[in-house]
Amino acid sequence: MSSAGAVDLSVQIGAVRLRNPVLAASGTFGYGLEFTHLVDLNRLGGFVTKGLSREPIEGAPPPRLFPTPSGMLNAVGLQNVGVRAFVSEKLPVLRKFDTTVIVNVFGYSLEDYVEVIRVLEDSEGLAGYELNISCPNVKCGGMQFGSDPTMVAEVVGAARKAASKRPLWVKLSPLVTDIGPIARAAEQAGADALTVANTYPAMALDFRTGKSRLGNQTGGLSGPAIKPITLRLVWETRKAVKTPIIGLGGIETVEDVLEYLAVGASAVQVGTASFADPRASQQIAESLSKALLEAKMLTLNEIRDKFLAENG
Ligand SMILES: Cc1cc2nc3c(=O)[nH]c(=O)nc-3n(C[C@H](O)[C@H](O)[C@H](O)COP(=O)(O)O)c2cc1C
Repeated sequence: MSSAGAVDLSVQIGAVRLRNPVLAASGTFGYGLEFTHLVDLNRLGGFVTKGLSREPIEGAPPPRLFPTPSGMLNAVGLQNVGVRAFVSEKLPVLRKFDTTVIVNVFGYSLEDYVEVIRVLEDSEGLAGYELNISCPNVKCGGMQFGSDPTMVAEVVGAARKAASKRPLWVKLSPLVTDIGPIARAAEQAGADALTVANTYPAMALDFRTGKSRLGNQTGGLSGPAIKPITLRLVWETRKAVKTPIIGLGGIETVEDVLEYLAVGASAVQVGTASFADPRASQQIAESLSKALLEAKMLTLNEIRDKFLAENG
């Protein structure tokens, strides 16, 4: 039971039980520890760490963020401390919190993904992995893993074998013609949940100087601007697979969360909203009971898939 006394907000994503369906998204919540003076981690559904790679990555040159109408561009360049430093320096502190920690994993080859998971498998205190497949595969001429069903099957299959101890969530790229075959490839290769979706490749420039507004030439678009597009992707994924879906893209309010649940997500993540207000995920999670009661609902099941029920 929640603090509102009547609404059970817990959700089951495969083997992972979340206290509530609101997690903080990868890349917008550091390693969790940076937020502990502002956010009560124990009140979140959980959080997803910044993407971790085999070796530390320094990331892209500044500027790394640029505001756009109803959103934001970022080109952080996947900066991170590397999986070994995460395990030795961050994880021991994180274990003191009663929260669900999902580790976001990425690489530029199959071997990279497998090695990151291999290192994490020996560590305690993690609930599962989220595979970021919106990365260029250096061995395939830089083509994104996530845009081709065969490559998706290969990377998810390899990660599945490596992740014998924990659930595997696969975070899909929105840069696809049809998300259905990609989602099915991930499901058949063993994904326990699909996170839909990552940022949209985009750009901003100053025509006077002819230069990019970012240190990189392009970046990823996130925030409210992408919500309608990602909602459609969640809906299309829902029709294609049975695997639970975690929806994210532009969530700022509890109503946004309920829309994602109604279109087929089982849980959600909050990303860019944490930049304006680091407590955004916690506040949204804490507003859920009231919002459900106002909509005369007592369980999350009453909202989940409502769009499917209404529209077939
Ligand atoms: C600054 C920044 C860094 C990000 N880093 C990662 C990352 O390391 N791995 C990943 O899978 N997604 C990353 N993302 C994508 C977010 O997790 C999320 O998919 C995206 O921002 C859409 O959600 P939002 O509109 O709520 O921000 C990043 C996003 C931002 C804004």
